Amino acid sequence: MRVSVIGTGYLGATHAAAMAELGFEVVGVDVDPAKVASLSAGVVPFFEPGLPDLLQKHLATGRLRFTTDLAEAVGGADIHFVCVGTPQSSSSSAANLEYVEGAVAAVARALTHDGLVVGKSTVPVGTAERLRVLLDALVPDGVSAELVWNPEFLREGRAVEDTLHPDRIVIGGASSAALETLSALYAAPLATGTPLIACDLPTAELVKVSANAFLATKISFINAIAELCEAAGADVTVLADALGHDARIGRRFLNAGLGFGGGCLPKDIRALTHRAGELGAPQIASLMRRVDEINMRQRERVVELAIAACGGSVLDSRIAVLGAAFKPDTDDVRDSPALSVAAALHLRGAQVAVYDPAAGETGRRTFPTLTFTDTMDAAVAGSDVVLVLTEWPEFIEASPAAIADLARGRTVIDARNCLDASAWGSAGWTVHALGRGTLAVPSDARSVVFA
Ligand code: UGA
Repeated sequence: MRVSVIGTGYLGATHAAAMAELGFEVVGVDVDPAKVASLSAGVVPFFEPGLPDLLQKHLATGRLRFTTDLAEAVGGADIHFVCVGTPQSSSSSAANLEYVEGAVAAVARALTHDGLVVGKSTVPVGTAERLRVLLDALVPDGVSAELVWNPEFLREGRAVEDTLHPDRIVIGGASSAALETLSALYAAPLATGTPLIACDLPTAELVKVSANAFLATKISFINAIAELCEAAGADVTVLADALGHDARIGRRFLNAGLGFGGGCLPKDIRALTHRAGELGAPQIASLMRRVDEINMRQRERVVELAIAACGGSVLDSRIAVLGAAFKPDTDDVRDSPALSVAAALHLRGAQVAVYDPAAGETGRRTFPTLTFTDTMDAAVAGSDVVLVLTEWPEFIEASPAAIADLARGRTVIDARNCLDASAWGSAGWTVHALGRGTLAVPSDARSVVFA
């Protein structure tokens, strides 16, 4: 089976390399010549652990190549994966479907023989049915093509592992022939017991959107409880551990803090809200709106804490922001809660120095007016308050005593509940953690103590 993969971002580049790893001949297609040149040279144009090795391995085996020539790629393949982005529209909370429609139309026109078009992008329910009509209208005479939906559940930072060993494989709208083809394609993960769920098109589309909506709800739930924990003097991290022992609840995605960001959860819950409104399903729309509001509130809360730590105004204060990526193990800063907080403080007149082990470059491109440093030491030097906004191991493992030697103030805001509060307290720091309150107040603290 020869495979084409349309779109080589986080999803497409990983999928293409993973399909080569599973033994298929793969060609990745992108409209961006720089991206294609980079991938062809074995350089992944974003930070994704494990992907450079897999890419280089299969460029070498000859099973994987990249091109900007979609017609050539489609003409030489039998299965065509659509992996383009569906970002939030600039004028509403709906998903922008122009890339996915453009990709399906381009594949349809380029088909030279029968083929299977497999949508992997996250789309609002009902999109795939419309794409089927588009495909049917555009395929050349004498060629037959089937469109199915096979949503992707990979996490950035774990993309390779998630693609090669998925939790489940969902295939929507497939004929028995298409199901057989895809079962052969995914034979390796299926052989290790990965469940295959075959369903209709709308169910497949909605499984993906609902999964992200549920994860977002879990995070906003624990953040709402975190607010209550602080008011009541409880500790949200201990509470989450205790909740997590209930197998019906589970511990994952119960980390309270600055909340969710990235290229998926925020835009997916907004697209769901929008689509639910269109379809007349107001319950999920209002639930998602609330989840979104709670999430955004966490960013404001950290800004307020930083202002309080600087004595009520951040003017003339120097603030060290540790973390720019929306989570560790990525350089992705799309809708990054960390950068949102950094920018808000900068706009209030603070001197903000941001450091991130991987996302300095992407951060600089997104917020050119913010100052990014090349080391953690440079960011914390002379700072009045330190904010830990992304839980990178470098921050968790940092010596609080060494940072105290560099900083001017002694307050650290642990917005990800990732620091060892007693170690920081012993080094003279006042630690404010979301959902835990003030954790250590050394006698010589020069910082504001929170109620
Ligand atoms: C998310 C989903 O987890 C994937 O299953 C899905 O395939 C992907 O979106 C997608 O739709 O493409 P991702 O955006 O890579 O993956 O990031 P997550 O690991 O889900 O984290 C999202 C955000 O939630 C991050 O900002 C993270 O810091 C935050 N988070 C996560 C919390 O605030 N608390 C937690 O307990 C967990």
